[in-house]
Amino acid sequence: MKAIAVYPGQKNSVHLADLPMPSLEEIPGGRGVLVRVLRCGVDGTDKEINAAEYGAAPDGYDFLTIGHENFGRVEVVGPNVSELRPGDYVVATVRRRGSSIYDQIGTYDMTTDEVYFERGVSHRHGYLTEYYVDDPEYIVKVPDGLRDIAVIAEPLSVAEKGIIQAYEIQRRLKVWQPRKAAVIGSGTIGLLAALILRLRGIDVTAFARTPRPYLNSDLMETIGARYVSTSDISVRDTARTSGPFDLIFEASGFAPIVFEAMQALGKNGVLVLASVTGGNQMVEVPAAKINLEFVLGNKVMVGSVNGNREYFEASIRDLAMSEAQYPGWASRLLTHPVDGLDNYQQLVDTLTSGKNVIKAYCDIAPLDTPVGATLATGLAHARV
Ligand code: BGC
Ligand code: ZN
Repeated sequence: MKAIAVYPGQKNSVHLADLPMPSLEEIPGGRGVLVRVLRCGVDGTDKEINAAEYGAAPDGYDFLTIGHENFGRVEVVGPNVSELRPGDYVVATVRRRGSSIYDQIGTYDMTTDEVYFERGVSHRHGYLTEYYVDDPEYIVKVPDGLRDIAVIAEPLSVAEKGIIQAYEIQRRLKVWQPRKAAVIGSGTIGLLAALILRLRGIDVTAFARTPRPYLNSDLMETIGARYVSTSDISVRDTARTSGPFDLIFEASGFAPIVFEAMQALGKNGVLVLASVTGGNQMVEVPAAKINLEFVLGNKVMVGSVNGNREYFEASIRDLAMSEAQYPGWASRLLTHPVDGLDNYQQLVDTLTSGKNVIKAYCDIAPLDTPVGATLATGLAHARV
């Protein structure tokens, strides 16, 4: 079967690879689930992997199938799978079990292992392919009514993790009632973080460099967030009028703004850092002032990466809430479809140099593809 792959460590090596059809037997105990991939989104991580800045091939391969923002439909399940059935729409998580104590309790996203396993990113093939097989532990059911937008469930799960972790941390305060939040960055993750916060009735100020109006500022305003361009006014100055911010979610990809965000955070506030920033950018900061305000204000700053099953489940619930509260909003994020795995170059070009891209994704098979259309041979013990 076809797969979009790169040779990790080799720049611009994206190509069409050939992978054997996966088999249910790869998962022990009759617990295999065969999923047909219908759609897969791409993001900055895929861009970095193709730029040879990130990513690792699985053992025994010189290439890595990329793509981790998946959406598919169950084709066949093993005899001991009761959680899912053929025909179910599903999204799979990204990180797989390592060896730390956090991995052992299912919180793979919190691993302390040096080497971690992520489908489409690190030592495991991804989802820009036709089928995958996995354990139901990693596969989350999506209601049929969400199938048109569920390709954003994975990026939404990343934002969910950051915000749920913030709430978890703030239990230290016994009576934390966040009223005002800031979201720095108005790309996919920023938009989705703003969505989660607005669904919780929080006043949101969203920041990005580009002056309004444009699609991203319109999307922020549609869900009732205030959009501020940092070319007009800084995050710190805005905090004086629209703050104090009880929660700040940083997803701009611009590391220096973290130190400004630290100064815009209100007392007892929590700052969530979610940008994976490459490079070695340097910056000068008022260290004593920032430190003093953090100490005197009992403030917290936390990094957040990935998301385990819990956050994917939250993501699916919030997608449904989003459709109830802001019908059609989520689909406006799906700006750049690319048809078929064969058009991998167009997919990567759109990702790297497309105009006004919020989400580029590959339509791999029609969303209404009938189950069993391409039932593979060799799926012994399968229950259809
Ligand atoms: C993915 C996460 C992953 C992170 C670091 C992000 O693009 O969405 O699942 O943990 O990259 O590899
Ligand atoms: Zn991602």
